[in-house]
Amino acid sequence: MGTLIKNGTVVNASGSERADVLIEGETIAAVGADLATDGHEVVDAKGLLVMPGGIDVHTHLDMPFGGTTSADDYTTGTQAAAVGGTTTVIDFALQKQGSTMAEALKIWLGKSDGKACVDFSLHMAVTDLGPGDGSQGLREMEEMVAAGISSFKLFMAYPGVLMIDDGLMFKVMQKAAQLNALCCIHAENGSAIDIVVAQMIAEGKTAPHFHALSRSPKAEAEATHRAIALADMAGAAVYIVHLSNEYALDELKHLQARGARALAETCTQYLVLSIEDQMSGKSWEEAKYVFTPPLREKRHQDPLWQAIADGTLSVVSTDHCPFRFADQKELGRGDFTKIPNGGPGVENRLQILWHFGVNGGRITPEKFVELNCTNPARIFGMGKKKGAIAAGLDADVLLWDPNADYTITAATQCMATDYNMFEGWKVKGNAAKVFSRGELVVDNTVQPGKFLGATGRGRFVRRETNAGGFA
Ligand code: URP
Ligand code: ZN
Ligand code: ZN
Repeated sequence: MGTLIKNGTVVNASGSERADVLIEGETIAAVGADLATDGHEVVDAKGLLVMPGGIDVHTHLDMPFGGTTSADDYTTGTQAAAVGGTTTVIDFALQKQGSTMAEALKIWLGKSDGKACVDFSLHMAVTDLGPGDGSQGLREMEEMVAAGISSFKLFMAYPGVLMIDDGLMFKVMQKAAQLNALCCIHAENGSAIDIVVAQMIAEGKTAPHFHALSRSPKAEAEATHRAIALADMAGAAVYIVHLSNEYALDELKHLQARGARALAETCTQYLVLSIEDQMSGKSWEEAKYVFTPPLREKRHQDPLWQAIADGTLSVVSTDHCPFRFADQKELGRGDFTKIPNGGPGVENRLQILWHFGVNGGRITPEKFVELNCTNPARIFGMGKKKGAIAAGLDADVLLWDPNADYTITAATQCMATDYNMFEGWKVKGNAAKVFSRGELVVDNTVQPGKFLGATGRGRFVRRETNAGGFA
């Protein structure tokens, strides 16, 4: 006996249709009009949209960073994802300088073991290729690909912690090109930013909003250009993470037009939050919005919305990197350089994108699915399993209620932070029911905000190399 979702409208990136969806076991068995009931358990989706579960390709769960550890572990983080309609996350394993990628993978698989509640995968953040010519690290990249890790993250920011130089970046890109893997880049000129930061601190500019002012959009644009240009030279496909402003967008567009195999994401926060509204320099509370790249002036938002609508940007992720305000953000009171960088968002991505994007007339429901589900699956080598409502794919199915009214608040969220970046915002559109590989794991219509599955049921997803879908 399967589960038959009847009377809904199936929304895929390619189009929408009135159709039933039959789930058998962990898989979508059939999609079609008037499928026979045949003793299946029927779920009535009248008035609901039947979409693929969301995929958030940029989260940091249980990550040591900024003198502390991100507040969501694999349990709370993936439960929060599920409650918000996201059924897969791609997290980052961070290689420590002086250590190996294998060690980082072991640590991150340990963090997720017995804890992940929806499916997850990992990017490998490369910080070190080992001694000499780096051949040891380059061999390790092959091992990572064999283990199902088809994307490598490189940081052009955070000197002394995660930042690598252009030479190392270029070597990794050449190897990625050989492996058909994808290079994901945090693009900011970390060295220039560090000089500005030191100057600000010396001038007594220590409040949270100076974090934003110290990281110019131009430093992001410069690094975006450099990353894409180097990847192009190396013959690699590149994916710029958390692109936040119009100048960086201009570089992306320009190099895309010249044929570079370059993709990029933006994150929810850059579309709807701004320096003017959240970071005007009035209070310590603004530490809640210290993340990197920082919030930008409002005028950057329209170009980002335009770019997700016209396909220049392919994905909206969250860069979910949560820290509690009371005791973790507090580490940087009196010195913004010590505020742990990051914000919570995995639970609210779809609500924000639907409310401001679809209801706001900026994107269609099909585009919503493309940005949140289909492109993430395809670009990151999971398209044969996830990212669409189609027979044969994993039954990660989201029943979305476009008319549900919801007020976002930390008081009822699953994320382990003591605040929400969108506190008190009223949105229309929310996840009604969420199936993960065929199992009903969230039913917000009956038990709102509660994860119904077993802790640890989430599986590691091995991803294929496909050069971000260019290959
Ligand atoms: O502020 C952020 N984004 N923290 C997480 C690390 C990163 O740069 O993505
Ligand atoms: Zn980053
Ligand atoms: Zn990040």
